[in-house]
Amino acid sequence: MIDSQNMLEAVGGLPGQVEEACRLAREAELPDKREIRNVVVAGLGGSAIGGDLLRGYAAGKLSVPVNVIRDYTLPQYVNDKTLLIATSYSGNTEETLSAFAEAERRGASIIVITTGGKLAEAARSLNVPAVIIPGGIAPRAATGFLFIPGVIILNRMGLVSGAEAEVSEAIEVLKDIKNEITNDVPLEKNQSKQVAGFLKDGIPVIWGASGTSEAAALRWKGQINENAKSPAYWNVFPELNHNEIVGFEAPKELLPKLRVVLLRDKNDHEQVKKRMEITKEIIEKAGAGVREVVSRGEGYIARVYSLIYPGDYASIYLALLNNIDPGPVKVIDYLKQALAR
Ligand code: F6R
Repeated sequence: MIDSQNMLEAVGGLPGQVEEACRLAREAELPDKREIRNVVVAGLGGSAIGGDLLRGYAAGKLSVPVNVIRDYTLPQYVNDKTLLIATSYSGNTEETLSAFAEAERRGASIIVITTGGKLAEAARSLNVPAVIIPGGIAPRAATGFLFIPGVIILNRMGLVSGAEAEVSEAIEVLKDIKNEITNDVPLEKNQSKQVAGFLKDGIPVIWGASGTSEAAALRWKGQINENAKSPAYWNVFPELNHNEIVGFEAPKELLPKLRVVLLRDKNDHEQVKKRMEITKEIIEKAGAGVREVVSRGEGYIARVYSLIYPGDYASIYLALLNNIDPGPVKVIDYLKQALAR
């Protein structure tokens, strides 16, 4: 087994990470008190997904919009009524640094989530509050540190309520799931190993639903890309019923290679649940494979993490099945270095 960066262990640490992230965010300094009309999370890749999760969390709770910006520049609406959460695990991602600087110029209220790097330095020199999270693992293995602080900060700023109880529930749900999908659990009882076997030699297609499992579907896709070094695609209901589903006719020889993982949540809209059943029949008839992963828990955090966690493990098991080292992401490193030259 090649796992040079101990990705299995890092991914397994999620329940503890959520706990620790909560503690760090409780102690962090808050941005100054003022009226907030929108929240923007600036970040890329494994750091941006924390923003997608925050957007999903806030959707049913917060009366102002939350958007995730994966870019150098910020939309025109960002101003002194914006809460900007700049998230970069390394603290050195150039797009995030650029968005941070722009938010500063526009007078936004800012908080930073990072392990250090130039972002921590800039925050220090400009007196911007920061949640400093522990380093030493791959950003994509640090989702607890990259999502949960945002939740606690919104809670402490009075923008949402009840976050602590939701986080506690998520920790319990994640601990239970971990016992079912760690490497010690054999294939017959291990859902993540079974999903990895299902995805092997195929093209992973991950489908969730808008508003419930959207961030989880994107997360699965990214984890399969980065850990298993495999192509993977994602989409959401109901949108995919209006375009992607038409693409299950040709070329006939390709269709059996499509391995669809359907992420299901009890809070999916009733019509979406119906759509999933009908769609499953259509794509199975077309020759594609389908597997389901069902969320657990009550609150958004438990439910979305209960979809993400089995996917994190599955992406690493898929790498190991294919004799791929899940840790290094050489292409990302190469691009960052080439751009810095
Ligand atoms: C690597 C990973 C990447 C990084 C991205 C941004 O594990 O997940 O997607 O997250 O290149 O880097 P950071 O997170 O350091 O801002």
